[in-house]
Amino acid sequence: MKTVKDVSLSGKRVLVRVDFNVPLDEHGAIADTTRMVAALPTIRYLAQNGARIILVSHLGRPKGEKNPKYSLRSVAKVLETLLGQSILFCDDCLGEEVKRVTENLQDGEIALLENVRFYRGETDNDPAFARKLASCAEAYVNDAFGTAHRAHASTVGVTAHLSPCVAGFLIEKEITYLGDKISHPQRPLTVILGGAKVSDKISVIDALLEKADCMLIGGAMAYTFSAALGHAIGDSLVEMDKVDVALEAMAKAKRKNVQMLFPIDHVVSSHIDFPSRSVGDLKIVKEDEIPAGYSGVDIGPQTIELFGRQIVHSKTVLWNGPMGIFEIPSCNVGTFAIAKAIAGASLTSIVGGGDSIKAIHESGCAANISFMSTGGGASLEYLEGKVLPGIAALDA
Ligand code: 3PG
Repeated sequence: MKTVKDVSLSGKRVLVRVDFNVPLDEHGAIADTTRMVAALPTIRYLAQNGARIILVSHLGRPKGEKNPKYSLRSVAKVLETLLGQSILFCDDCLGEEVKRVTENLQDGEIALLENVRFYRGETDNDPAFARKLASCAEAYVNDAFGTAHRAHASTVGVTAHLSPCVAGFLIEKEITYLGDKISHPQRPLTVILGGAKVSDKISVIDALLEKADCMLIGGAMAYTFSAALGHAIGDSLVEMDKVDVALEAMAKAKRKNVQMLFPIDHVVSSHIDFPSRSVGDLKIVKEDEIPAGYSGVDIGPQTIELFGRQIVHSKTVLWNGPMGIFEIPSCNVGTFAIAKAIAGASLTSIVGGGDSIKAIHESGCAANISFMSTGGGASLEYLEGKVLPGIAALDA
């Protein structure tokens, strides 16, 4: 895969696919700029090297319709502040205005096109749409790692019309951390997986059991493993149809000599109310003693200690998925403790998935994490060993 460093883009109009699919708060304001900040090195490098930059991104899933709720206009404003440079915002990603603005771009100037998913042709990877989108530029840079698992017009289709097609620094960095540092890790490599469902992570568990020395399982997905072990799990979230998968994973771990650790105690509650972010009385129970009428909401103190010991003895840690319902303040202890244990240990730490990254930020540990992936689905697919179409489409 070639990167921006391998080519000269000075004086060229360059279509730069970024992933500015940022979370919005209830008022529609940008709630987190991590993905924008992650794209800055490539944008700055291109600007400093005289490229004429045409940024293109999606925001949300507007399903092919223009919807002001998903406009990138406010992203342009924030980007101006982050870069300290003015951005020419185009109200569309195709048409006369785009032609005029991009033809007049000077070396180092930046334009941002409106949400590319306002057209159905984007997600359909429609060749005619891709040709029109590409027509404003000569060359292509993809730095949208978070969208690299989508074969869309702006990630794949446009590459048929532009040359060179190279990766930006963010894609390069994501591949280094999720690829090389996991495939050839400093050992021991500990993988920590959490989140609600085993079904979301079957292929990741399978692929990572080939690489890890130890796998720690927390979050609601641990209850499916507990069920597989015949433990009492009360009313905890469980996928009974995935018990076989859990058993297979445990058998594979044994075959591969991967130590697989599960919670040895749980925090449980008789009542969970998501809308009001509240739970009933909390109790700590042993691994196989969740009473009927109670659900697990977090890992317990002994598990925090057990997992913490394993983390400290690791040289590389990959973490994806929270240990409990950390959105509810009284249930965030386990997730935050894992975040702090990772941040406090001397190791290479790689964190992926929106929830784990949120937990890292909320627990104040971000500065001590080696790498936080901007990819949700993309990072999981990459870890599974799948070829990401947005990366495969670039010049080799
Ligand atoms: C993401 O947030 O994972 C990417 O921006 C891709 O978005 P999508 O799941 O809507 O394709």
